Amino acid sequence: MSYNTILVEVTDAVMTITINRPKQLNALNGETIAELSDAFKAGESNTAVRTIIITGEGEKAFVAGADIKEFAEFTVDQGRELSRSGHQNLFDLVEGLKTPVIAAINGYCLGGGLELAMACHIRSASDNAMMGLPEVSLGVIQGYGGTQRLTQLVGKGKALELIMTAGMMKAEEAKDWGLVNHVTFQNELMGMAEKMASRIAKNSPKAIGLAIEAVNAGQVDGVNGYNVEIEKFGEAFGTEDFT
Ligand code: HXC
Repeated sequence: MSYNTILVEVTDAVMTITINRPKQLNALNGETIAELSDAFKAGESNTAVRTIIITGEGEKAFVAGADIKEFAEFTVDQGRELSRSGHQNLFDLVEGLKTPVIAAINGYCLGGGLELAMACHIRSASDNAMMGLPEVSLGVIQGYGGTQRLTQLVGKGKALELIMTAGMMKAEEAKDWGLVNHVTFQNELMGMAEKMASRIAKNSPKAIGLAIEAVNAGQVDGVNGYNVEIEKFGEAFGTEDFT
């Protein structure tokens, strides 16, 4: 499939998805969300792809948020639907992929952009990256999983601080908070993500998929993560990779 707002490339078992709206700082509009959803599904179903890296075109932004111009006039029902469909079609999809997803955060990573990065399995950032959740300054709240995933990553106190101040933090501080795993120079960011991808690719893709399922299970209401781990551990013995 050809895309208007993203670029997709597969090299050496790594699918790189680049959000390609640099003039709008890669803001996520409806078309971008639909195209990302399609590309992630294609990556998951392609057995040659062992890791997916997502980044933003240009040096200025990973993603500066959801496209504000698209929802400026929305009603309550339209707002709810924007959020619900985004969760379902992209953000929950990414988190639940069995193919590991690395966010390579190369500049502004705000609002829905940070929510997308938080749905990924690993986050690496360039030293010029700026992270934040400006939603309450616009009179809305996070709608793509940010209230939940930020709390899981950094704890309730820090999550509420970032949400309520609507401020931005630099990459190093985000690393201190546990919001990103690694920080490097901008010109080394993709190399770092690719190195991580090749380390992951040495391991069993089936086992990695099972581990992602077990880790994610602990965040689901009413699901006992330890029980899921027991099940997934057992399942691993039935895979060709183990044999
Ligand atoms: C649409 C955006 C955008 C966004 C930037 N642009 N962010 N367009 N949606 N989120 C556009 C600008 O309108 C402008 O287009 C161009 O990108 C460059 O932006 P500037 O503001 O001129 O750049 P700069 O002065 O360097 O400031 C960078 C910035 C600022 C600090 C990142 O752009 C900014 O504050 N953007 C909004 C960030 C934000 O509030 N994000 C959260 C959105 S809410 P033109 O055509 O004028 O040149 C959200 C909710 C998610 O994400 C949940 C939904 C369910």
